[in-house]
Amino acid sequence: MCGIVGYVGREKVDTVLLNALSRLEYRGYDSAGIATLGSGTITILKESGKLSNLRKLVQEHPVSGQLGIGHTRWATHGEPNQKNAHPHADPEKKVALVHNGIIENHAELKVRLMEAGYVFQSDTDTEVLVKLIEKYHIKMGQTLEESVKQAIREIRGTYAFCVISALEPGKFIAARKGSPLVVGLGQGENFIASDAPALIDYTRDVIFLEDDQMVILTQDGVRVSTTSGREISPVVTRIDWDAKAASKEGFDHFMLKEIEEQPQVIERIYASRLAQGPNKSIFDVLNFDEKELIQTERLIIQACGTSWHAALTAKFLFENLAGIPTEVDVSSEFRYRGLLPQKNTQVLSITQSGETIDTLMGLRQGKEKGFKTLAVCNVLGSTIARESDGVIFTHAGPEIGVASTKAYTAQIGVLFALSLFWGKVRGRLSEARCSELKEEFRRLPEKMQTVIGRKELVRHTAQKFYEARDFLFLGRGINYPNAYEGALKIKEIAYIHATGHPAGEMKHGPIALIDEKMPVVCIVTESVVYEKMVSNIQEVRARKGRVIALASDGDEAIKAHAEEVLYVPKCDEALSPLLTVLPLQYLAYYVAVLRGTDVDQPRNLAKSVTVE
Ligand code: G6P
Repeated sequence: MCGIVGYVGREKVDTVLLNALSRLEYRGYDSAGIATLGSGTITILKESGKLSNLRKLVQEHPVSGQLGIGHTRWATHGEPNQKNAHPHADPEKKVALVHNGIIENHAELKVRLMEAGYVFQSDTDTEVLVKLIEKYHIKMGQTLEESVKQAIREIRGTYAFCVISALEPGKFIAARKGSPLVVGLGQGENFIASDAPALIDYTRDVIFLEDDQMVILTQDGVRVSTTSGREISPVVTRIDWDAKAASKEGFDHFMLKEIEEQPQVIERIYASRLAQGPNKSIFDVLNFDEKELIQTERLIIQACGTSWHAALTAKFLFENLAGIPTEVDVSSEFRYRGLLPQKNTQVLSITQSGETIDTLMGLRQGKEKGFKTLAVCNVLGSTIARESDGVIFTHAGPEIGVASTKAYTAQIGVLFALSLFWGKVRGRLSEARCSELKEEFRRLPEKMQTVIGRKELVRHTAQKFYEARDFLFLGRGINYPNAYEGALKIKEIAYIHATGHPAGEMKHGPIALIDEKMPVVCIVTESVVYEKMVSNIQEVRARKGRVIALASDGDEAIKAHAEEVLYVPKCDEALSPLLTVLPLQYLAYYVAVLRGTDVDQPRNLAKSVTVE
């Protein structure tokens, strides 16, 4: 996690750095800092807490110069305080550095450096990197480039870092291994950032650095090479984005805006993946034989967090609509699991950011074991998108709220389209059923809009329950992953303890928690397991639990079993998770607002988890 930026050009460096950092705050907000270089001296300003604290500091202490680096932190090594905030520098402030990742051998390096007389000022792993560069560059007089290369030879772990030197003004150097870095190309100015949206206000031309590459940036150019010194001719990618997409556009929170963008997200998926399909063009990237794709006999999906919930939902789609046996694993387990070779099996990674380290490592283990790797991903140019053999982009637009909403529905949307494709080419889905499902999908945005129109009712429900200490979420069949998702949302942003369960499992433990104070959100829309779900609700009621039912329009009978009913329009069961998730997202949102938490940047979380 952590976000890093760098700038060299003609603009006021503090303005550019603060602006770019504000778009990276989702990567962590424990502290923030900048280092700028003007008239041969480095100035460092850093503050614990959110970027707003740093902004105040910069206002009080204006800096000059046209070159600098910046950082927003999600603490791993060392408390989130001012001392551990980046940038870190040598005592004379000749070099300053920002880092994202973990230097795994920092303890042994620190001992060695301390024995050589270096004094450490922070508890971070990053500082060893500064000391190594200080040793080679300041003490031994090597160039900054040589010193960076030398330091890289000595460190183990993951990094994206950016360093400036008062001895070599007018340039900065950045390098990566395992953590993302994007170079932004401008006219008479150049940039670096942890991801492309950070540069949205400045350029559309970017270079995605690969692992073991470094770049030297000056006002007039960039030079990319491997960290062992081989020159690289980088590929420049033009990004088609809209700066508006990364602003709140009048909404109180990004999360609210992103919830309400979901009908457009699904509409786009219909237009791009289904209107003329489904066909193999569902893949934006496909670097292997189409025949192999069609012959897929087994799928292993790996993902984290909300993306894992999309994977659990997709298992129903792939098995029921395409007849493909599907396993689902959380990436942090998958990557350490002994993976047995299996014929015609693909490993599918699902990830919004394309940078989650566990998912990336899971993908790499799939590759090593000889599997073809597919990915469903939102961020163009991200590491997982670049390393997978086949990619479907969700094109949900930048998701800024830390709690995922529109990326989730987009994932389920494209996974649905993929299941129709496989169902058709494998002869598991009749033309008629395929057309029926496509038509249902086409009508979803309108139905989602209906649910959005009913948000006041969810707010009313939130008002009734927002002081609860715990929540339970229950669902069955294709909606049980949404029970997990509803619970996750409320934990993430409202800080309320919540758990989700397949409703049938309730009697094996969670039922012991139910008393007259416990809100139990039950997804009970029309489905083959409707009756079973109603029985589970009655079991909750019998223990005086407070049932909030999520039901299909027209289900009057459910009112007898629930204290509150939130309705969603009727739709095919296969697509129902795309509707039932909306009230769950709103419920978490309104409960969080009523509890006064920071909805878009909840404590302790980061959107892109690039540490294990
Ligand atoms: C973090 C985020 C979640 C996200 C998960 C997986 O925990 O806070 O919202 O679902 O990472 O991220 P990915 O980018 O791989 O989907």
